[in-house]
Amino acid sequence: MGYVSAVFDSTQSYVLASPGRAILLAVVYSPLLAIILNVLHQLVIPRDPSLPPVVFHWFPFIGSAISYGNDPLNFFFKCREKYGDVFTFILFGRKVTVALGAKGNNFVLGGKSTAFSAEDAYTHFTTPVFGKDVVYDVPNEVFMEQKKFVKVGLTTENFRSYVGMIEDEVDEFMKTDAAFLIYQMNDINEWGRFDATDVMAQITILTASRTLQGKEVRSGLDKSFSQLYNDLDGGFTPLNFMFPNLPLESYRRRDEAHKKMSQFYVDIIQKRKQFGDDEHDMIAALRTQKYRDGRPLPDHEIAHIMIALLMAGQHTSSATGSWAMLHLANSPETQEALYREQVENFGTPDGKLRSMTYEEFRKLPILDSVIRETLRIHPPIHSIMRKVRSDVPVPPTLAAPSENGTYVVPKGHFVLASAAVSQVDPIIWSNPEVFDPTRWSDPEGVAAQAFDTYADENGEKIDYGFGAVSKGTDSPYQPFGAGRHRCIGEQFAYLQLGVVLTTIIRRVELRLETDSVPEQNYHTMITMPKKPRNICFRRRNFD
Ligand code: HEM
Repeated sequence: MGYVSAVFDSTQSYVLASPGRAILLAVVYSPLLAIILNVLHQLVIPRDPSLPPVVFHWFPFIGSAISYGNDPLNFFFKCREKYGDVFTFILFGRKVTVALGAKGNNFVLGGKSTAFSAEDAYTHFTTPVFGKDVVYDVPNEVFMEQKKFVKVGLTTENFRSYVGMIEDEVDEFMKTDAAFLIYQMNDINEWGRFDATDVMAQITILTASRTLQGKEVRSGLDKSFSQLYNDLDGGFTPLNFMFPNLPLESYRRRDEAHKKMSQFYVDIIQKRKQFGDDEHDMIAALRTQKYRDGRPLPDHEIAHIMIALLMAGQHTSSATGSWAMLHLANSPETQEALYREQVENFGTPDGKLRSMTYEEFRKLPILDSVIRETLRIHPPIHSIMRKVRSDVPVPPTLAAPSENGTYVVPKGHFVLASAAVSQVDPIIWSNPEVFDPTRWSDPEGVAAQAFDTYADENGEKIDYGFGAVSKGTDSPYQPFGAGRHRCIGEQFAYLQLGVVLTTIIRRVELRLETDSVPEQNYHTMITMPKKPRNICFRRRNFD
């Protein structure tokens, strides 16, 4: 006999079972009641007109997490149709106010750090991975000084030496890795294939460690460092962002890996104190720096900045490289144009291609526009968030409840800007979904204007504490963020991506294994191509 019918069988059993019944009813009905109350609350109770509209959601606490998590761009575009450029959605109990468009970007990224705080938004997620006393674990002005120290390691002089190193690493990878087995067999004119992201992830960490991270990290990659990196990376997921401390194995491994990796860098620093630096790398640069009060960087801070840089650059660059390769494989004309650009600039009388210098690399318009276009459609970071520290009025030019009204984003909310939306907004761009690097070569076009506002070579420069930079907050194109939290790895990323792509394109031709470029996977922190994402390749100049 079923439990429920037993409950109703006799008065006696009813009495005996009533606590069980009450629990059962509570289990069945309280979520239902919570859903009904949540819906009624949204539909019946008049809304405070000074607050941005809230996106309708069935489930309390969870809110719009599922729609946002599965496809944030689709979610944002749909919400814009219904609510306009500014609206609030619920994300696992957090109230997130989104501000879309170039004006929205400006509102969020141009905001004062005393009102919109990156550290309050991110520290729970980043500090267990990067470590104490750096980045979002310190007050904003201290982090700005740390960004200044990192810039010392990103000089043109260092970049000059990196071109050849990156080329060497890619060359060696193609000559030795199993993914390029067919390429290694000189006498076989067949197509091989590789997973775009698996290959780019390996090439990215090899090239970043050979250059910025330094030779000790590069040689560690063949040993224990790779496992530490994987465990640390396993703690850098959307789950960790939403729930910083769960009793899960991956969290334990993250914490363990952080301790070991921190010690790994501290050991390098101590050895270098004894034997000296002999490299143009980041550890060498950081060891020379001092805070404004004269304090040098303690070893653990250098170690933690190095971990932060490793994590900041790895997925962003490898995702961008994967997307660029996939689009090149899908577009024979662009691939040919890119190859021709190499042949015309670096071809030698003996029919070979010589290496390029950093100065030459910076003057390659086709390569430049391939990277720009890849970052337009696939900015690795689709949502940039800040936590609101004090009530902030929304400029009426961005959104307003009525002609004379103003919305206020209250303290405790998060604000969110999405360049991923403004970079493919059909109101701004023609054929926004089409990968078309030539759009960047029209000096009067939307792309050039957006880029000028972003780079703003001759315009307004602001020093947030890490050297003068273009503000760029009100551009619809801002794959590297803008304002005080703007990326400092931009030039390095361009160099790394550019040399990796051209080294590969010089050696092999590419085509897609599938009919079209894969869809975007938003379930990872950085937007990656969904599987299958195989690229077929064949050695060039086969004879
Ligand atoms: C910040 C994108 C590569 C280091 C940022 C931000 C974006 C971004 C959007 C702003 C985050 C925010 O405002 O919350 C990218 C892309 C890359 C890339 C698209 C490659 C294609 C790198 C590399 C490094 C790096 C290679 C290190 C060498 C940083 C740092 C910040 C930053 C230190 C500052 C964070 C802050 O001030 O809050 N990046 N990045 N990035 N990035 Fe990158």
